[in-house]
Amino acid sequence: MSPGARREVLAGPTREVEPVAGPSDELEEAGLRPRTLGEFVGQAQLVEHLRIVLEAARQRGQPVDHLLFAGPPGLGKTSLATIVASELGVGLRVTSGPVLARAGDLASLLTDLQEGDVLFIDEIHRLHRAVEEILYPAMEDAKLDFLIGKGPTARSIRLDLPRFTLVGATTRTGLVSSPLRDRFGFVGRLDLYQVSELEAIVTRSARILGVEIEPEGARRIASRSRGTPRIANRLLRRVRDFVEVRGDGVVTGEAAARGLELFGIDELGLDKVDRAILEVLCRRFGGRPVGLTTLAQCVGEETDTLEDAYEPFLVQQGLIQRTPRGRVATQRAWEHLGLAAQERALF
Ligand SMILES: Nc1ncnc2c1ncn2[C@@H]1O[C@H](COP(=O)(O)OP(=O)(O)OP(=O)(O)O)[C@@H](O)[C@H]1O
Ligand SMILES: [Mg+2]
Repeated sequence: MSPGARREVLAGPTREVEPVAGPSDELEEAGLRPRTLGEFVGQAQLVEHLRIVLEAARQRGQPVDHLLFAGPPGLGKTSLATIVASELGVGLRVTSGPVLARAGDLASLLTDLQEGDVLFIDEIHRLHRAVEEILYPAMEDAKLDFLIGKGPTARSIRLDLPRFTLVGATTRTGLVSSPLRDRFGFVGRLDLYQVSELEAIVTRSARILGVEIEPEGARRIASRSRGTPRIANRLLRRVRDFVEVRGDGVVTGEAAARGLELFGIDELGLDKVDRAILEVLCRRFGGRPVGLTTLAQCVGEETDTLEDAYEPFLVQQGLIQRTPRGRVATQRAWEHLGLAAQERALF
């Protein structure tokens, strides 16, 4: 099985920056997760809305309305789900869309919930239809409908469920069916982070990991993290490795720049795959629009991964454009690859 396929099974399409994270990274990552809304950096408007929603429910003594978090991988959706449960002081059950293969899987999870619990369903856009249908009455009326037996003797039974809060996460709001989306009382969109916010995240993570870092080091890492906290944390760990082996253990600006360069991250924060995308658009197709599937095949990634994880940042940076006829590299992409205007004319 290719590493890409393995990731698909475990966690769905996620994005890996080279070098790929190892198991010890995952353990460390868990320790870096913000635990309260106060620790959650950035996404100011979303956090403010969430505070109000949580506080209002607390005052009323009711479970919070169902919440949906949407946005590219690594921006904090899972973190927010954990924060919601801990801010409310309730239990958290975690599952994900593709894991719930049969309606019975979800039914047993639901009947196992305690009053007020948070049920987190990651990748909710990948729920099977039959499972999703169990969710509707559960979300709306805290009821579980199921069928006993088959054929003419089949009976439908309705069970009361504890009142709970469903928190869904998706990298694709467009793929969440509209009956499901409509049942969420609050939809929070996460945007790519500002460099200053990522700087704060890197500084916080360095403190937790016991890494000595200078402000310039944090800034360099932040500015090359593609607007994504998970990538910022990963780059911090790689730079830490670098300064421990090749330096004096302190992440200075200079050390960060050299470490990142060593790991193939360029000054815009683009990695090998990002650059491959631009190369395909500019060199191989000479600036003509290229369809998503072709582009994915050319760079050896899944179309989903390309669309969820790579494209948002490249679009945000003005390096590519999505047009009805396909993806097109912008002038900035040509310049970034060091392709002069004359060269461009040759293609
Ligand atoms: N706002 C934030 N402040 C501080 N750290 C953050 C923030 N958001 C995310 N992180 C860090 O980034 C990591 C990735 O976040 P998280 O797992 O919540 O992302 P996600 O949106 O669920 O990603 P995916 O779509 O891949 O599941 C977390 O472990 C945490 O350390
Ligand atoms: Mg997640």
